[in-house]
Amino acid sequence: MTPARGLRSPEPLVLGIETSCDETGVGMVRGTTLLVDAIASSVEAHARYGGVVPEVASRAHLEALVPTLRRACDQAGVTLAEIDAIAVTAGPGLAGALFVGVAAAKALAVALDKPLYGVNHLAGHVAVDVLEHGPLPQPTIALLVSGGHSSLLLVPDVARDIRPLGSTIDDAAGEAFDKVARLLGLPFPGGPHVDRIAVDGDPAHVTFPRGLTSGRDMERHRFDFSFSGLKTAVARWVEATTARGERVPVADVAASFQEAVTDVLTRKAILACREQGVPDLLIGGGVAANSRLRALAAQRCEDAGIRLRVPRPGLCTDNGAMVAALGAHLVAAGIDPSPLDLPADSSMPVTQVDSASAGRTAP
Ligand code: KG4
Ligand code: ZN
Repeated sequence: MTPARGLRSPEPLVLGIETSCDETGVGMVRGTTLLVDAIASSVEAHARYGGVVPEVASRAHLEALVPTLRRACDQAGVTLAEIDAIAVTAGPGLAGALFVGVAAAKALAVALDKPLYGVNHLAGHVAVDVLEHGPLPQPTIALLVSGGHSSLLLVPDVARDIRPLGSTIDDAAGEAFDKVARLLGLPFPGGPHVDRIAVDGDPAHVTFPRGLTSGRDMERHRFDFSFSGLKTAVARWVEATTARGERVPVADVAASFQEAVTDVLTRKAILACREQGVPDLLIGGGVAANSRLRALAAQRCEDAGIRLRVPRPGLCTDNGAMVAALGAHLVAAGIDPSPLDLPADSSMPVTQVDSASAGRTAP
């Protein structure tokens, strides 16, 4: 990009491609401004199986990618030739699904002769918030809660330095929502259905267990989570109620379960802020779309004097804008692009922000 003499260089236009699970996302970001966030979801194709089927997801990405890219260009009024850099989710996620996005991004990078950034999906869930609330405070504490991950992170610099404080030792928070929804006869993916139904329920109807919050667990697993016992407790409660010939109060159970999850998530996140001396908390990932989590976090953060940032629900669930946002951030931070032979890494660690940074240590 050669700016005309005397004119300020426009901020780089970054294309983001996301195919790690069941959403084909294509986003475009200029600097920290979101231009377009086009999504095609294959969720309907998975619903009857009660979970994402990897092969079905890969095929759906193949079919949806080019039309979604075209739609993104049309909506943004941008041609591919105007793009300055391409970012793609390199991991973590479903291997076959990741391959589709990575292969497409490599083809575009070669054809357009533009730099390519393979980026970490989880860092994308953090970086996306700059599109709504501006630059991230450094450091910030990030609570990342999605269908595949639940982590508490210390983020001194989202481009270079992400440090895990704790994570789930069994199910992810979103996974727990989906499994409990299934128990209650709600459709897949269950998180949004539990959220909707819980509005009419009593969160104090059943006191479900708060995993890893007892004295001893807080010593060994201070910032870790466990949702598997909670899921089993809900299953037992539902079974016992049915065995007595009673009707299961679905809204009350949903609300009580949701209260247990959001109570633990917010308590540990605020404790992390306090103990790390960081007054800023960001919540990201699909479960951050949950209305009770947002409300409880807002209330507890206010009481604790912590500034809270949560992207709008549409930017919490998987999308291409989050990948473009992280890519634009890496470009602005002067990070080197990834090699063109970058791998799709289904188990990319959260500490690795981009494909080129495997051996790079934080300053
Ligand atoms: O971040 P995401 O879109 O995909 C992954 O990276 O996993 O998260 C998907 C997860 C699913 O488990 C879904 O049920 C959950 O986020 N989710 C919700 C809500 N919206 C999505 N969970 C609770 N309440 C919601 N409103
Ligand atoms: Zn995600």
